[in-house]
Amino acid sequence: MTEEILTLALNRNATITENALRQIYLPDEDITNLLRSEQYSLFAGGKRIRPTLTLEFCKLFGGEEEAAIPFACAVEMIHTYSLIHDDLPCMDNDDLRRGKPTNHKVYGETIALLAGDSLLTGAFEVAASNTVAGAEASAMAVAYLANCAGRYGMIGGQVMDIEGEKQTLTPDRLLKLHSMKTGALINAACVMGALAAGIRVDDPAMERVVNYAENIGLAFQIVDDILDQTGDEATLGKPIGSDAENQKNTFLSFYTVEEAQFYADRLTSEAVDAIRRFPASDLLCSLAEWLAKRKK
Ligand code: IPE
Ligand code: IPE
Ligand code: MG
Ligand code: MG
Ligand code: MG
Repeated sequence: MTEEILTLALNRNATITENALRQIYLPDEDITNLLRSEQYSLFAGGKRIRPTLTLEFCKLFGGEEEAAIPFACAVEMIHTYSLIHDDLPCMDNDDLRRGKPTNHKVYGETIALLAGDSLLTGAFEVAASNTVAGAEASAMAVAYLANCAGRYGMIGGQVMDIEGEKQTLTPDRLLKLHSMKTGALINAACVMGALAAGIRVDDPAMERVVNYAENIGLAFQIVDDILDQTGDEATLGKPIGSDAENQKNTFLSFYTVEEAQFYADRLTSEAVDAIRRFPASDLLCSLAEWLAKRKK
């Protein structure tokens, strides 16, 4: 698949997600600072990779797009909340996100914290209210998403990340940390897309979905680590050198940029191998490859 076709599909999926998110955040005369703060981060841009994965996995299994849209919104809302909290002074203490001042720089720490909480809570309302996918698929998606976002997934990974600052973890612990803090939500994005198409968690096809997701999820964080050192702030829309400043354990604590990139490329090939046998998997294969060489 050419990069032009992939870009068109990514833009289309981003637009679908943003339009649906706008329906959730309809203009409100009684707009509060809390709502302003949620919308500030949610509509600041972002690649919308996770919702794209949800929409594309639904499509891969012949599902209706409408059934995947609420799950796509939910995963992007959780991701956005995680970014707001990740940037707080008590976490990574960063000032730039998605090319704009971070949420707490504009709204203050209290509102930023609560906006994150509200996006998280709202995400579950949106996922659970997915009438198109049906009650059973929605219940499975909500349970899966909660697991991936929680203590055994993203939150657990963020705790390992923060507690690991100023200490040297083993490479194995770092793999676990990265899989949890970033891989888990990417896994939920993919699985919820398949659930929207009527694939059940115990279906053998789901194993392939998870295999793809775990590999691209880990590769995604490795590339994020590389970009934190080698990227361009204006392109990336977030600060360069934040990891070194916070004495984080990253892939570059153990490997050179070339070795880390090689690792990410190998994971990407494994992801592609996991789903290549499905007809119409072209886009998801190209997406995995594009993510491994992204510059933002
Ligand atoms: C950044 O995620 C945080 C990580 C988990 C590495 P993205 O790179 O997907 O950020 P946006 O959504 O495009 O801003
Ligand atoms: C963030 O990892 C993972 C999250 C759960 C938000 P990073 O701290 O490396 O993400 P960036 O680089 O700030 O986007
Ligand atoms: Mg962080
Ligand atoms: Mg950070
Ligand atoms: Mg980072």
